[in-house]
Amino acid sequence: MAKHTPSTSTLCFQKKRWLLILLALLSISTAVAFIIRAAYDSSCDRSQRFDLPLGNEKSAESSVKDRIGVVASPLSFMKSKVVLLVSHELSLSGGPLLLMELAFLLRGVGAEVCWITNQKPSGTDEVIYNLENKMLDRGVQVFSAKGQEAIDTALKADLVVLNTAVAGKWLDAVLNKDVPRVLPKVLWWIHEMRGHYFKLDYVKHLPYVAGSMIDSHVTAEYWQNRTQERLKIKMPKTYVVHLGNSKELMDVAEDNVAKRVLREHVRESLGVRNDDILFAAINSVSRGKGQDLFLRSFHESLQLIKQKKLQVPSIHAVIVGSDMSVQTKFETELRDFVARNQIQHRVHFVNKTLTVAPYLAAIDVLVQNSQGRGECFGRITIEAMAFQLPVLGTSAGGTAEIVVNGSTGFLHPAGKEGITPLATNIVKLATQVEKRLTMGKRGYVRVKQMFLERHMADRIAGVLKDVLQKAKSHH
Ligand SMILES: *[C@@H]1O[C@H](CO)[C@@H](O)[C@H](O)[C@H]1NC(C)=O
Ligand SMILES: *[C@@H]1O[C@H](CO)[C@@H](O)[C@H](O)[C@H]1NC(C)=O
Ligand SMILES: *[C@@H]1O[C@H](CO)[C@@H](O)[C@H](O)[C@H]1NC(C)=O
Repeated sequence: MAKHTPSTSTLCFQKKRWLLILLALLSISTAVAFIIRAAYDSSCDRSQRFDLPLGNEKSAESSVKDRIGVVASPLSFMKSKVVLLVSHELSLSGGPLLLMELAFLLRGVGAEVCWITNQKPSGTDEVIYNLENKMLDRGVQVFSAKGQEAIDTALKADLVVLNTAVAGKWLDAVLNKDVPRVLPKVLWWIHEMRGHYFKLDYVKHLPYVAGSMIDSHVTAEYWQNRTQERLKIKMPKTYVVHLGNSKELMDVAEDNVAKRVLREHVRESLGVRNDDILFAAINSVSRGKGQDLFLRSFHESLQLIKQKKLQVPSIHAVIVGSDMSVQTKFETELRDFVARNQIQHRVHFVNKTLTVAPYLAAIDVLVQNSQGRGECFGRITIEAMAFQLPVLGTSAGGTAEIVVNGSTGFLHPAGKEGITPLATNIVKLATQVEKRLTMGKRGYVRVKQMFLERHMADRIAGVLKDVLQKAKSHH
């Protein structure tokens, strides 16, 4: 008997050690935030979602190199081209991280990539320092947004990418009389669709650039409408480029052993059982992301199950992305709702995190409940689908372009009228195991067909070819 003890504990120890290694690996890859997470929930909302410190991660770097080395990139025609990337700011939010992802793709094919950040805080900022070093490490040239070097580079560049609407402020402020010479080679990457971005101050040069690149069809249409109606300006040629999942995320999503370990670990930490069904919203907590309405639907679904005396495993709601210090009033409202309805044992709040993979491995259904015009794109949606999760999403924004209603998930209306439909869908997926699994598998197939990094690189390559051609013919 006694001899079993050591072997059991060794096994246990090995499992623990492995889990730690796995978690360490994951948090390492999060430092390459631009790759695993890129545009968190939505680049529409430029609020910060990441708050992890960034360290020095060599293995992440080498994996980037591996990735680039293996397949011929559709961007290889960009070799030795000079590209100037203009970021409105440098932070761990979706927009800048996505632009960095493009910087590394271009570096990977031997383009000369220069980066400037238009708005920088005056003091030293650890995040900016780390991100800039990361870029320097990979051969991206980083320099000041103002001054002759920026102007010279803009003039000699083959391509200038302005990232987000707000970056438009840089044109007049820095280029001044040279603006007209630079505009024909500008590609404007837009990720916003809130009203306050429709300002002539930001976008008056939009009609004269070579093209604009937007994350979803509905956002592109919205820009078309708003610029015409409100600003009386015309959009340039607009390209819709859906985003893709990083290879790192796909690696975890397709590793069943890793997924199982992460699932057990997260479930244990939440105090839920293996056969409980977890519905999770993974967005920074705010009214726009609709966690309040999700909780109301969830509560309603519990009542439905009780009324109809349905036999289902217990269901739980997980809200990942909590930050009491930022949305104190709204967060308090959510907790009050939970307490008032006595569903504390069914609802779990998890702080904002850069590493979403463990949660995607642990849950059964993703709820994407963004309100209003929804997400510009909503990268978490394709990430969840990579993990074979069905998605219950609002029929708004990019979500409706990703989720196929009735096939890879169900769509419900945004706003209060969506509460009951979402509750019904929650009950549906809780009771119909087969349907839930099939929808998750179909979502995965859809990701493999159109939402991988190489698909995104393909789409971007098409745009860049076009824009380069245009810029050349202008000379
Ligand atoms: C754009 O305008 C058209 C015509 O007014 C309208 O039908 C459409 O819904 C609008 N699209 C968006 C995304 O606002
Ligand atoms: C979550 O964040 C709050 C502050 O916003 C902090 O007090 C709490 O300890 C954090 N919880 C965990 C598990 O890190
Ligand atoms: C989604 O499909 C269901 C039926 O599967 C339908 O009742 C619902 O109206 C559809 N929703 C949207 C937004 O298309």
